[in-house]
Amino acid sequence: MKRLAVFASGSGSNFEAIAEGCKSGVIAAEVALCVCDKAGAYVIQRAEKFGIPTLVFNPKDFGTKREFEKMIANRMDAENIDLVCLAGYMRIIGDELLERYGGKIINIHPALLPAFPGAHAIKDAFEYGVKVYGVTIHEVDATLDGGKIISQVAVPYEGDDIDELEAMIHRAEHKLYVETINKIIG
Ligand code: GAR
Repeated sequence: MKRLAVFASGSGSNFEAIAEGCKSGVIAAEVALCVCDKAGAYVIQRAEKFGIPTLVFNPKDFGTKREFEKMIANRMDAENIDLVCLAGYMRIIGDELLERYGGKIINIHPALLPAFPGAHAIKDAFEYGVKVYGVTIHEVDATLDGGKIISQVAVPYEGDDIDELEAMIHRAEHKLYVETINKIIG
């Protein structure tokens, strides 16, 4: 059984979709670790509900990104992690994690990359007035929301309610993340 680490900074609805997929057997893997850089983030409660161990840290307690990434990578080594899934982890992955887990890290982004990278993709696309939104899952490299694209799905929407749009995009994310993890782990 493959062992996943899921990184998140906020609500963790994608974390929950992955954890639920593993629990129900839809994904033949186990979420072995939840990594979170924000004390109090809702994802921590979700992880506890599933009985999944959490590694919660404050980047400010470390001198450099390399130092906190070393701590994360050491823990992932100890947990025998096969695949790292970023799910709303709002930091660029640095050299330490890329050197030790490069090629095994994927990210989900709520837009059709390379359009609308960054932290506010849905709002940016909505304000731009696009008619076809979407979701991208890609390999992680040193660039912001860059890296080879693994899968995408389009979400057509011509309405004017950003909350409705966000809900549609999140539903598409949850489905695509489960399908994509399954393809990767074979
Ligand atoms: C998701 O929409 C994810 O695609 C996005 O953060 C959200 C986290 O939601 N990630 C990015 O924007 C990365 N640039 P969640 O905490 O409910 O899974």
